[in-house]
Amino acid sequence: MQSLISSTSQYYFDIEAQYGAHNYHPLPVVLAKGKGVHVWDVDGKQYYDFLSGYSAVNQGHCHPQIVDAFIEQAQKLTLTSRAFYNDALGAYEKYITTLFGYDKVLPMNTGVEAVETGIKLCRKWAYEVKGVPQDKAEIIVCEKNFHGRTSTVISFSSDPDSKNNFGPYMPGFTAIPFNDLKALEAALENKNVTGFLVEPIQGEAGVVVPDDGYLKKAKSICEKHNVLLIADEIQTGLCRTGKMLACDHENVKPDILLLGKALSGGMLPVSAVLCNDEIMMTIKPGEHGSTYGGNPLACKTAIASLQVLQDENMAENAVLMGNLLRSELEKLNSPFISQVRGKGLLNAIVINHTNKDAAWELCIRMKENGLLAKPTHGDKIRFAPPLIIKKEEMIEAVEIVAKSLEEMS
Ligand SMILES: Cc1ncc(COP(=O)(O)O)c(C=O)c1O
Repeated sequence: MQSLISSTSQYYFDIEAQYGAHNYHPLPVVLAKGKGVHVWDVDGKQYYDFLSGYSAVNQGHCHPQIVDAFIEQAQKLTLTSRAFYNDALGAYEKYITTLFGYDKVLPMNTGVEAVETGIKLCRKWAYEVKGVPQDKAEIIVCEKNFHGRTSTVISFSSDPDSKNNFGPYMPGFTAIPFNDLKALEAALENKNVTGFLVEPIQGEAGVVVPDDGYLKKAKSICEKHNVLLIADEIQTGLCRTGKMLACDHENVKPDILLLGKALSGGMLPVSAVLCNDEIMMTIKPGEHGSTYGGNPLACKTAIASLQVLQDENMAENAVLMGNLLRSELEKLNSPFISQVRGKGLLNAIVINHTNKDAAWELCIRMKENGLLAKPTHGDKIRFAPPLIIKKEEMIEAVEIVAKSLEEMS
């Protein structure tokens, strides 16, 4: 299906195509403004944002309290580096560790940096606490994982697009199927295994929700074998699935918690690694860091971002609106949808169509009708709007999905 493209939009497509790397394949829409659950393109057309910057704008676009905190700090002090103390970092460290119940936090920027930091902490702990022979530490990961794009992290990806021709790959990782406790039990027989890195719900794989009790049992298997559970909550965390953390659904406390994305409400890259002293204190001055990690602008923005999630009961709203979304989508009874799945406001539909481009086509039609979403892995479309979405808005959004599905037939 041909998308209707204005000459203004075409200008932006062309300039990006000419001067930018072609490492993305965006939907043909050029956004110029965002507010709450909506975004507007360069021609002024309004859309529901059902991607939320891959769950970075859980709090909605340009949340006024987060914007205020950002601007106030931006006018005062933005970056000191960690060569000096700054007057925002300590308060942020106290705030986030108290909120999540850990001894310490290590601040980074992007999500993948948090993953890298978690891996490094796990390895340090392996050699300095657990007593694994030098360079033998092994971390168990899940097939179809997505933890980011660095060369270490793609070394244990099962997606050929992420991986091919980027070798040689980093050793020390073993992949097992997701949601398979027997495979985990077997993998942990190896005494050199020191960590199990897992997404509580596999987001990029198409919102794959494991069986109830998976995380709880995985945690107890890890405990039995003295292995650290490293939870990548970069996409599932911060109220997205209906609890502050997806792990909270099963009362699981990971040994290492990775956060990113909505930690800044979409304002700037802010990520964090939380764990207790036994693990965190294995890293000494000079052994790890980042110029921007822990900068005062990030610290103030992150506190505001975490505060509004709680003040506005966004976890509760994610539960209510997620239930509404899934039940309304089920009611459509569309032959094009083979499955509706998800938790809270992290959802996906699986497209049932002989045409392999059907999911892309549906996204184009939804765009024309005023809703933005993006296929993942070909036949799945993620529906993850900002957590502040209201009932009337959700109903209207599902009407757009329904209309677009009808146009497909
Ligand atoms: C579960 C998970 N981990 C890590 C990342 C990487 O985050 P970033 O793109 O900020 O590096 C992502 C990004 O989508 C993610 O979904």
